[in-house]
Amino acid sequence: MESKVKELVEEVGGVSISNPDQAEQFRLKYLSKKGVLADLFEEFKTLAPEQRKVVGKQLNELKQMAEKKFAEAKETTSAQNGSSADKNIDLSLPSEPIELGSRHPISLVRASITDIFTKIGFTISEGPEIEDDWHNFGALNFPEDHPARDMQDTFFVESDSADKWLLRTHTSSVQVRVMKNQKPPIRTISPGRVYRNETISARAHCQFHQVEGLYVDEGVSFADLKQTLYYFVQEMFGEKINIRFRPSFFPFTEPSAEMDISCIICGGIGCPVCKQSGWVEILGCGMVHPNVLENCGIDSKKYTGYAFGMGIERIAMLRFQIKDLRLFFENDMRFLSQFKSVL
Ligand code: DAH
Repeated sequence: MESKVKELVEEVGGVSISNPDQAEQFRLKYLSKKGVLADLFEEFKTLAPEQRKVVGKQLNELKQMAEKKFAEAKETTSAQNGSSADKNIDLSLPSEPIELGSRHPISLVRASITDIFTKIGFTISEGPEIEDDWHNFGALNFPEDHPARDMQDTFFVESDSADKWLLRTHTSSVQVRVMKNQKPPIRTISPGRVYRNETISARAHCQFHQVEGLYVDEGVSFADLKQTLYYFVQEMFGEKINIRFRPSFFPFTEPSAEMDISCIICGGIGCPVCKQSGWVEILGCGMVHPNVLENCGIDSKKYTGYAFGMGIERIAMLRFQIKDLRLFFENDMRFLSQFKSVL
């Protein structure tokens, strides 16, 4: 047995291991439960006691040697593995592309509108989407029996209290909150989401976005309103755009008007977008009704003000030539990803 062990010491010493496979083969052959060394230890048990002393020592040395060889081989071959993988990396290849996100067109247009007005001194104010009847209608001079209060237009929120709660139908409700809380001069715009009980179609939706504008001070006139809106339109759509005002009616303004811009598609000659008229309506406006000022605690003999309200979707549809309002709410990536490079 002694000579067998000596032979094996030489054999093990001479084995060369250069990859993880060979290391595993080595382990199986020499060190596993059914390997050469396990057999030798079995045989060792059968030796006479005086032989055991000598052979036992040699056997242990062989075992240690094989274990050390295996441990070292494992380390070097796995390190080799890493470096060979590293060698396969081509550092000159372009990296994985990182998808650029895009902002929603409504957010883009809302940001343009607020930029344009904050440049000339307007602040931004916001109010709640769930409103009470007074802020949405009462304070804004809507008579009790006004059709806009009807279930057909307004989403009412069920409530146990006597107060009527509703989803605001316009951002004009924020006017009321600002005037109640601030003293003139007030110059603010209020962007936000509004709700109406409308059948969803290419031109109408039950939710959309508006920007309300309000300027209250001593001596504010309709001329100020016109000039401010003219500035806005030129900034938003370009210098070639004209505006016109048509008399209209809103309970909260007197006089009231609707403002059209010359059609940005045909330049005013007439096309399907402007229904051959050369003009498209973009907002409602007027001088704040004295009743509204008084309802909000502002002296209507001392102060006057103008207000306007526009739909953000409408501006976005004109700006990006979008024909169907529903696209803004469907989250279709094919639509949304087209706005990556805008603004
Ligand atoms: N609140 C109106 C609407 O939703 C828009 C509007 C018109 C707002 C005239 C105003 C205004 O401030 O003066 O249709």
